Amino acid sequence: MKITVVGSGYVGLVSGACLADVGNMVLCLDVDARKVARLQQGEVPIHEPGLDEVIRRNVAAGRLSFTTDAAEAAAFGTVQFIAVGTPPGEDGSADLQYVLAAARQLARHMTEYRVIVDKSTVPVGTADQVRQAVQQELQARGVDIPFSVVSNPEFLKEGAAIEDFMRPDRIVVGCEDETARKLMRELYAPFQRNHDRMVWMDVRSAELTKYAANAMLATRISFMNELANLAERLGADIELVRQGIGSDPRIGYHFLYPGIGYGGSCFPKDVQALQRTAQASGVELAVLAAVEHANEQQKQRLVDKVVQRFGEDLVGRHFALWGLAFKPNTDDMREAPSLTILQGLLQRGATVAVFDPIAMETGRVAMQAAGIALDRVQFAESANAAVAQADALLIATEWKPFRSPDFEWLKQALKTPVIFDGRNLYDPALVRAQGFEYLAMGR
Ligand SMILES: NC(=O)c1ccc[n+]([C@@H]2O[C@H](COP(=O)([O-])OP(=O)(O)OC[C@H]3O[C@@H](n4cnc5c(N)ncnc54)[C@H](O)[C@@H]3O)[C@@H](O)[C@H]2O)c1
Repeated sequence: MKITVVGSGYVGLVSGACLADVGNMVLCLDVDARKVARLQQGEVPIHEPGLDEVIRRNVAAGRLSFTTDAAEAAAFGTVQFIAVGTPPGEDGSADLQYVLAAARQLARHMTEYRVIVDKSTVPVGTADQVRQAVQQELQARGVDIPFSVVSNPEFLKEGAAIEDFMRPDRIVVGCEDETARKLMRELYAPFQRNHDRMVWMDVRSAELTKYAANAMLATRISFMNELANLAERLGADIELVRQGIGSDPRIGYHFLYPGIGYGGSCFPKDVQALQRTAQASGVELAVLAAVEHANEQQKQRLVDKVVQRFGEDLVGRHFALWGLAFKPNTDDMREAPSLTILQGLLQRGATVAVFDPIAMETGRVAMQAAGIALDRVQFAESANAAVAQADALLIATEWKPFRSPDFEWLKQALKTPVIFDGRNLYDPALVRAQGFEYLAMGR
């Protein structure tokens, strides 16, 4: 099949590469000319495990290419995926300008039947807006070309995106006409040879399903974070509580890890956007409002602990921060809790040495965008180098290389043996037995 993917970010690149990998011809379009030039030179602009290899293989086989030319992209695929960003607007609702611009640019150039697939995370009713935008452009051109609009939300997880796309738990498709349904079935057949994973529904339900999934996951995280804070006060260990409840199959173990709040490019904005949708419909989502509030509080928790330990005035204090990315195995810094922690420490006068295995460069860019004073941030060469002469170590991302440090060495390297662990990486008894003050989440 010939497929166009509009938007070559995390979702567009992974989708395009994986669709090419099963034998389709894929053309990826982006408005960012620098990004496209890098891709054309064989460079992958994001860090996603395994993605480089899939892209290289399919470019070499002539199945995957990149362009900035909207006309070429419109002419290419029968199926046209829209995978552009849907950032929060000023009021927190999803900003649809990129999605609608993508739809319009396709409509300005298309000459025959197209299936337009909304893969971006978009509020209920967006497919109707896309349909209307395309119709308007076609009318302006004085042509009548048939097209379908389908909702196919993406559930991939950054850091495991290739695996998620290649072996999906489910493929949700909101589709209301037979031609498009047949094409979507064909398109996804190679990804579900073991058993059928298609979940068919109407378009509006598919649009809502994506928000419902992220809202549910965010709810689990905020719930556990609040319980962790309570466990601390009560002298209970939230890790044991987690295992105690996770073993109940009605609850399960996933997404019950307490930490420093959820971040990333999806949960924060999707939780907000769903609330705006509900408000506009006159429906109260009281649970979700609390989820967001709890998350904002949680992002401050690690700094609160530092202040409790070292005092409000941190002038002259120097800290090591391990982990910048919002989660391991990605370089994505969008809404990363590490930024809130950095701001909290710097505002109180401290200096900070940071280290992340992958997100040093994206981290620097995100800090700049957040107005963080870079002259008081030291970008360390290694995790060990970050620790030298620090008053304490803070952990913000649960990267594998941080999970089993040489505690003996660490104790010597730190000025005072204090660890603020925002990800509960270590066994408290073990770390404390080595002479550390260990302040984790809910333990
Ligand atoms: N990142 C994730 O883990 C993830 C997972 C599931 C769903 N989503 C959703 O998928 C969508 C895309 O997310 P992302 O993280 O890939 O975004 P991204 O910001 O990484 O990439 C979006 C790309 O679209 C390009 N673009 C914007 N307007 C364009 C246009 N008119 N024509 C061509 N290209 C255009 C941008 O230049 C950018 O490269 C969002 O709605 C997001 O919520 C993201």
